[in-house]
Amino acid sequence: MPKKKKKINFGVIGLGMGRFHLEGYLKAPNAEVVGLADINENRLENAKDHYGIKKVFTDYKDLLDMKELDAVSIAVPNFLHKPITIDALKAGKHVMVEKPMALNAEEGQEMLETAKKNDLILMLHFNNRYRGDIQYIKKCVEAGDFGEIYFAKTGWIRRRGIPGAGGWFTTKAKSGGGPLIDLGVHVIDMTMYMMGSPKPVAVSGCVVQKFPQVVGKGTFDVEDFASGYVRFENGATMAVEISWAMNCASERQYSEIYGTKAGATLNPLTIWSDRNGILEDISPQNPKGLSQFEHFADCIMTGKIPISPGEHGVLMMKVLDAIYESSKTKKEVIINWD
Ligand SMILES: NC(=O)c1ccc[n+]([C@@H]2O[C@H](COP(=O)([O-])OP(=O)(O)OC[C@H]3O[C@@H](n4cnc5c(N)ncnc54)[C@H](O)[C@@H]3O)[C@@H](O)[C@H]2O)c1
Repeated sequence: MPKKKKKINFGVIGLGMGRFHLEGYLKAPNAEVVGLADINENRLENAKDHYGIKKVFTDYKDLLDMKELDAVSIAVPNFLHKPITIDALKAGKHVMVEKPMALNAEEGQEMLETAKKNDLILMLHFNNRYRGDIQYIKKCVEAGDFGEIYFAKTGWIRRRGIPGAGGWFTTKAKSGGGPLIDLGVHVIDMTMYMMGSPKPVAVSGCVVQKFPQVVGKGTFDVEDFASGYVRFENGATMAVEISWAMNCASERQYSEIYGTKAGATLNPLTIWSDRNGILEDISPQNPKGLSQFEHFADCIMTGKIPISPGEHGVLMMKVLDAIYESSKTKKEVIINWD
């Protein structure tokens, strides 16, 4: 039998959000960071010096050529998720890719098929799934404590908060969309995850741009507000509101699920239920989260299915695609699962 490795060798591609991945791997006892790649030499040199990583490359393909490399985190602008993920998988490396998985579900499906063909793990960096509060609710849902979950509502609304205004985030060809694909992906994913990952079957949505003056210079051809309504195969529904700019009180992120036995909200985590006819609010104290980076290394070592598998990345892209499509057609969109 081959000797089991004690540590998995990781590389990180893209050093904006990628620095968070780098720090996560450095903290994980079962991970080693062997190389970094970024086209921005300043970011690359800074990370090299700060973290003492010896091998750094301006061309990610040179990182992928490293024999000792087992896996990479990909944290580059969204339009590069698909080509870099596919190159990494073809080079025999496991991949954790940032959210959103890709520009659309079709790209995501191609990435997933490449992973399957090469028998490698493709995991999404859906970081919220690893939070202590969300893991706590997930376990309660699995134990049946919520009964039948029939409705959820979620949102992430910012009064003024357009990332990299005029840059890649606000350029559709590079980002795939605005706050829906940037922020919506987080809250929709964590809500559906808490609901037990029901299958979305029909979606209505509307995306609009109302604050072009906030961006001013540069490209801004995406929405700044999105709303949606999702129907699931099990009869449950979910309402969604997302903005980068909106005349609201202040930034707010929320996620609530409602079941026949209990409901829950986050920030702070509270469970609403009823014991023997008396209404009861429960405030679980600081449930411990997991490290997605340690988990990824563990999945590679053991063959475990990740908590945030590539399949759920595609599922999320289908919901986002359907909201954009419904906004265009002004009709409910049926999600095709054939
Ligand atoms: N999970 C989260 O909470 C979270 C938070 C922020 C960003 N993100 C995601 O992370 C990704 C990156 O976002 P960001 O905010 O770090 O953007 P960013 O623009 O700050 O950083 C992207 C980095 O990628 C580098 N890059 C671009 N092309 C490259 C290439 N061909 N090869 C190697 N490096 C290349 C850039 O030089 C830059 O350093 C996006 O997909 C974004 O949605 C996720």
